[in-house]
Amino acid sequence: MSFALATTLLASLLIAAAEAVSITDIQGVSFQSPYAGLFVDDIVGIVSAKDRYGFWLSGEPAEDLRASHGIRVYGRNIANSVTIGDMVSLSGKVTEYRNPSRQDDLFLTEIEQPTHIRVISSDKLLSPVVLGEDRIPPTGAYTPLDIGPDGWLSVPNNLTLNEAANATLQPDKYGLDFWESLEGQLVTIKSPVAASFPDRFGSFWVYGTWPVSGKNSRGGLSLAFGSDSLPYAHSEAILIGHPLDSTRNPRVSVGVALSDITGVLTYQYGFYTILPLTTSSIVSVPQTKVTPAPIPSSGDPCELSIGDYNVENMAPRSRHIPRIADHIANHLNAPDIVFVQEIQDDSGSRDDGTVSANRTLSALVKAIAEAGDGVHYEFVNIPPIDNMDGGKPGSNIRVAYLYARLSTPSVIRANPANMVIRWRPEKVSLLPGSPIGTAIQGTEAILDKHGYITLSLNPGRIEPWSFAWEETRKPLAAAWQTTTGERFFTVNVHFSSKRDSSSAHGDARPPVNGHSERRTQQVNVTASFIESILAKDANASIILAGDMNEFVQTRSVFRPLSGLLTDINELSGVDPVERYTYVYDQRSQEIDHIFVSDAIGRRGTEVEHVHVNTWAASVSERASDHDPTVAKVRVCDSATVQGDVELQDPALLVQDTTTQIPL
Ligand SMILES: *[C@@H]1O[C@H](CO)[C@@H](O)[C@H](O)[C@H]1NC(C)=O
Ligand SMILES: *[C@@H]1O[C@H](CO)[C@@H](O)[C@H](O)[C@H]1NC(C)=O
Ligand SMILES: *[C@@H]1O[C@H](CO)[C@@H](O)[C@H](O)[C@H]1NC(C)=O
Ligand SMILES: *[C@@H]1O[C@H](CO)[C@@H](O)[C@H](O)[C@H]1NC(C)=O
Ligand SMILES: *[C@@H]1O[C@H](CO)[C@@H](O)[C@H](O)[C@H]1NC(C)=O
Repeated sequence: MSFALATTLLASLLIAAAEAVSITDIQGVSFQSPYAGLFVDDIVGIVSAKDRYGFWLSGEPAEDLRASHGIRVYGRNIANSVTIGDMVSLSGKVTEYRNPSRQDDLFLTEIEQPTHIRVISSDKLLSPVVLGEDRIPPTGAYTPLDIGPDGWLSVPNNLTLNEAANATLQPDKYGLDFWESLEGQLVTIKSPVAASFPDRFGSFWVYGTWPVSGKNSRGGLSLAFGSDSLPYAHSEAILIGHPLDSTRNPRVSVGVALSDITGVLTYQYGFYTILPLTTSSIVSVPQTKVTPAPIPSSGDPCELSIGDYNVENMAPRSRHIPRIADHIANHLNAPDIVFVQEIQDDSGSRDDGTVSANRTLSALVKAIAEAGDGVHYEFVNIPPIDNMDGGKPGSNIRVAYLYARLSTPSVIRANPANMVIRWRPEKVSLLPGSPIGTAIQGTEAILDKHGYITLSLNPGRIEPWSFAWEETRKPLAAAWQTTTGERFFTVNVHFSSKRDSSSAHGDARPPVNGHSERRTQQVNVTASFIESILAKDANASIILAGDMNEFVQTRSVFRPLSGLLTDINELSGVDPVERYTYVYDQRSQEIDHIFVSDAIGRRGTEVEHVHVNTWAASVSERASDHDPTVAKVRVCDSATVQGDVELQDPALLVQDTTTQIPL
């Protein structure tokens, strides 16, 4: 560009800037302001809200709803010079701000270095934009930039930066565009419902009286597929930040209904956020009692109940052991096998070289026996090499199996003369004949001397040396038998977490799904192992379960499993919006899964996610951040069993074991 041309351009910009501009001119119809970097005079608006760092102005609305008529005015010690309801004029520099330490944040358009703040008149009334009436948030994608077969969950991600694209807003279609078009405005949400617990700053997600996607029976928003076969983005939900008058937000949980919220829409810490003028109050709270899952252990040797529970960093003296034990004993009805994750070693998070978790697991098993009908569990796990499996340093978290053995006698009816006691029969045992593996050995599917499949190490880890498991938990595979000698196989996993993910309201589009490549590799290694069993017997009964730290809607991660195993929710016909075990941001989501082989699928399944934690009244009242799940599967056909073995009818068992106990 020639010097002359540059000077002319600069001159014309300065002329433009010297003219009075409206707030809608400044906001423009794109993500970034056409005036960014320029000083503007005579900006006029009504003060809609204030905080320690400035205030918000509301100007004349434009016909074009894409251009917001609200804006943030930033400057220390300026808030005292105005009162809410004042009409003021001021000069200042239009700035696209983002916290320098948060490079994935979107920019907030604001007026910095304000000068000539002049109160023109006072006591002006402002009517907020009523969300759901005046403006309705779209329920579709966040932005047209989230391209790929899995929508906002697609890989590769971070293909485009939203701010670099600086697209013209399409607020009727896209969530980020919608909220951006309201940036700086005063808005009201009538009858908001909380979709999350508060975060550590007291902020929480809500939706209002507008249409939402994936609403579950609790009132949360579940991640599921929309009619376009893409995962819901839930861009219609919005974060409620700290009230501007320094009151405190109510302590909400999922499904809590609140009184109307009025506040200014801003962007901070990675999210579009409404800063309420004042706190709201709780209108109604959903029932926190969770009914036990209707899946008891059965007397049929082929029919097994399977539990799955991430017990959140459990150590021998963890205070949450009795509650977890109560969940397993009474809400899951003491499943025949429980897949547990996040068992810490015997010294908890002390980094002292301890790797055994015998005391942790014994403490859990003892608590379960005390909590319920006295079911006694055996446990099995393989201690990792010290500090090689990720998690909190020194805690050596690992996966483990609990499996029910003979129960201790439990009183089911008592009178002074005698007591009826019940013994629970043993349902499963580890297939004998192979040694238990070590941290560095990988187990393989082999044929035993009779030509039946077994594992070379039982239980054993799957390719523990694979780079897929570097610094993370290794899966534990096991071969089992029923009391009738039928074999089945299980794999208990805890895949890498989503840490380092970017915000769904962030600059990277599609957003970064932290460590999704790792999880894809981990699914691949796991799937290859399962494939090796199915290659020997296409009718093998296989159950894969655990904390997979991923949604099935991220299809790319689970692709290696397709054609091998099926999600038990699908087989059991669970309503897609009721499939969740975790709440994060605005979403109720399933990251703990159970997949089964065709042989099991064909025999019919049941599953229930038991919401003992996602339905808690507060974060501190949860026993774990995950909900447990319990399923019913059949690992053999009763027909094959009936011929040679006496069926263990539960009713008969009670009679058979009725014992007189002298008092
Ligand atoms: C963003 O788009 C607006 C409207 O087209 C334009 O005026 C502005 O200069 C753009 N900003 C950047 C940084 O691209
Ligand atoms: C996305 O990619 C850009 C480079 O194009 C990089 O600077 C940025 O850090 C990435 N964002 C995230 C969240 O990883
Ligand atoms: C833990 O228990 C297993 C099985 O009972 C036993 O073989 C092992 O020696 C125990 N480890 C420790 C450190 O006590
Ligand atoms: C698998 O089991 C089904 C039903 O029991 C049977 O019809 C089929 O032949 C079996 N397939 C194989 C490969 O054994
Ligand atoms: C795992 O990945 C390898 C290498 O890309 C591929 O050959 C193999 O088929 C994959 N296994 C499964 C079960 O998808």
